Amino acid sequence: MSGTAKGLPDVVVFSAEEIQERVGTLAQEIEAHYPPGEEILVIGLLKGAFIFVSDLVRALTRPEVEVDFLIAALYRDGTDPSGDVQLLYESAARIAGRHVLLVEDIVDSGKTLGRIGDALTRRAPRSLEVCALLHKRRTEKLRYEPRWIGFEAPADWLVGYGLDYGGRYRHLPFIAALAGGEEEAR
Ligand code: IMP
Ligand code: MG
Repeated sequence: MSGTAKGLPDVVVFSAEEIQERVGTLAQEIEAHYPPGEEILVIGLLKGAFIFVSDLVRALTRPEVEVDFLIAALYRDGTDPSGDVQLLYESAARIAGRHVLLVEDIVDSGKTLGRIGDALTRRAPRSLEVCALLHKRRTEKLRYEPRWIGFEAPADWLVGYGLDYGGRYRHLPFIAALAGGEEEAR
C-alpha cells in the first residue's frame, strides 16, 4: 500500500475541498426537488455514510428535516462473493407517508441498496429516493438507482470520508485509493 510516513493513504482521489463543494451542490439539488415546507426524513446507512450525512444535512436549509440511521452489513465469504445483507439496526422512525431520502456512501453491486430499499418500501413511504456519495457503476440495472450521485468512483478500493478498509481510515477528510486494487482489499 502506498502511504506517508505515518501509513496513511496518500493517493487522493477526491480532495476535502472537492467533496465539500459537491456536497453543497447536492444539498441544493435535494432542496429543489422537494416542495418547500414538506418534510424530508433522511436515513443514513451506517457506518459508511456517517460523515456524508452530517455534512449533507447541515447544508439543507429547510427546517423540516429529520435524521435517522440504519445499520446494514454485507457479508461476503470466500466462496460466495454475492454475500447477504443483514439489517443490524432498523430505523425506528415512522416511515409511512413520508418523503424518505436514503443516504449511502458508495454503491458497488447495489445489493445493499436493493435489500434496504425493499425493506423501506414495505413500510409505505410517500416517496423513496437515494443519494449516494459514490457510484462504481458495476451493475447495469439497479432496482433503486440513486437520483443524486456525488462522484463516479474508480474501480479501486476507496477509503476516507466515512469509507473504511478493515475499520480504518473513515476519519480522513478526503477520499483516497488503496494501492493494490480492489480485489486485494476485499
Ligand atoms: P454493494 O452492496 O455491493 O453495493 O456494496 C456497498 C457497500 O460496500 C458500501 O456501503 C460500502 O460499505 C462497501 N464498499 C463498496 N466499495 C467500497 C470501497 O471502495 N471502499 C469502502 N467500502 C466499500
Ligand atoms: Mg462498509
